[in-house]
Amino acid sequence: MLARIAVLFLFVVAFDARAVLAADGKVIYAQTCAACHANGVANAPRLADKAAWEPRLKSGKDALLVSVLKGKGAMPPKGGNASLSEDDVRAALDYIVAQTR
Ligand code: HEC
Repeated sequence: MLARIAVLFLFVVAFDARAVLAADGKVIYAQTCAACHANGVANAPRLADKAAWEPRLKSGKDALLVSVLKGKGAMPPKGGNASLSEDDVRAALDYIVAQTR
């Protein structure tokens, strides 16, 4: 009985942690990236616009991460939010990539 409760507890904790991680990327996207990527400002590829993202995704997620960290074209480094860590940027990128599937 006790073991079952312990397993259930672990399951709930693990599940919660995943939910928080997933939410972070979405929040960071909404706070920093959506300014351009929601409406295609300055020709930014729009969120969930598969045709716009497909050719970019071919270069691989690592290359895209570098683009965001260093900036590309009209996109400033880290989307203009210097306070973001590399992990924050990666989480936002993961969120964007997940919307193209
Ligand atoms: C000021 C507007 C702006 C903001 C804010 C912005 N982007 Fe962009 N983003 C662009 C534009 C414009 C491009 C197209 C750049 C090009 O190909 O010349 C782009 C391209 C990209 C690409 C494709 C890069 C490549 O190598 O093809 C990714 C990935 C990306 N943005 C992710 C993000 C993420 C993640 C954030 C938030 C942390 C973000 N962007 C914030 C304007 C923006």
